[in-house]
Amino acid sequence: MKRRISNLPNLKLTMGNVEFDNPIWVASGTFGYGTEAPELVDVNKLGAIVTKSITRKPREGNPPPRIVETSSGMINSIGLANIGVEKYIQKMLPVYESLSTKIIMNIAGTDIQEYIEILEMVESVSSVIAGYEINISCPNVKKGGMEFGVDCDMTAKLTEALRSRTDRLIIMKLSPNVSDIVSIGKASEDAGADAVSAINTVVGMSITAKTGMSNIYTTYGGLSGPAIKPVGLAAVHKLYNKLSIPIVGIGGIVSEEDVAEYMLAGAKAVQIGTANFRNPGISEDIISRFNLFMAKTKWGSADEMVGQVNTHS
Ligand SMILES: Cc1cc2nc3c(=O)[nH]c(=O)nc-3n(C[C@H](O)[C@H](O)[C@H](O)COP(=O)(O)O)c2cc1C
Repeated sequence: MKRRISNLPNLKLTMGNVEFDNPIWVASGTFGYGTEAPELVDVNKLGAIVTKSITRKPREGNPPPRIVETSSGMINSIGLANIGVEKYIQKMLPVYESLSTKIIMNIAGTDIQEYIEILEMVESVSSVIAGYEINISCPNVKKGGMEFGVDCDMTAKLTEALRSRTDRLIIMKLSPNVSDIVSIGKASEDAGADAVSAINTVVGMSITAKTGMSNIYTTYGGLSGPAIKPVGLAAVHKLYNKLSIPIVGIGGIVSEEDVAEYMLAGAKAVQIGTANFRNPGISEDIISRFNLFMAKTKWGSADEMVGQVNTHS
């Protein structure tokens, strides 16, 4: 029997001044610039595309090997390889004009000035970007990235500087590689961020016993995929308990149930990362399956289930 359209749950959500059709987005660095998806994938069905981290100048990234598969996940040390903001503006922004999905531009820098310059360059030319995700959590670069994400004062200064220069959505992307993710989240909130996203990758290492070789050029890289879902869920739940701004949950999502778990933990939206490498169409599939999943639950809308996990204490 066909389900009546009116029974489909409402997946729309508002974050800052932006309305998203659904809470299922693709994560930075795992969907390119959003323009390379195979023809079979309808990117306009996605709640949003978070584009890969953009720096002021183009970057080659780290030498290979920079990706290795691990049990239930992968380790990467791409090192923010990207085309730089000038090319992003020239080549990517015009393509985004033709998409109806929301584009969130992820920005990375080595100091506050670099983040500001990138944001100002984009602000001055285009309105196609719905918002910015600020990468203060990349474990794979020598300078910048993580230096912000582990320090409350730096996080607050950076957030404030960007907030005063744009009315668009600002999402600070948090690292799990800290002793207290909540204090970094709170610093972001107090300095005016619209939302935080959590988590970026978890520092990891891979070794082949037989050869005695480390499998990543930079020795350590960022672990992602199903192996880190429990870390992501705990981070989101802790943040939800202490923050009033929305949380975007990331880490190890491969199914509609994973999406629901993140929402129950406190995420208002989620991002799918590593799973895109196995199947670039997986996020679109998960959106359809999440619709059906929701229709069978007591929740009338995705928003209603945010933070509603039953804990034992
Ligand atoms: C190959 C690869 C490249 C990534 N590049 C970026 C990046 O450029 N900027 C960023 O903020 N996060 C980057 N990430 C982190 C993801 O956006 C995401 O936070 C992380 O992988 C956890 O989600 P997942 O387990 O679903 O992959 C990258 C992850 C992978 C696997």
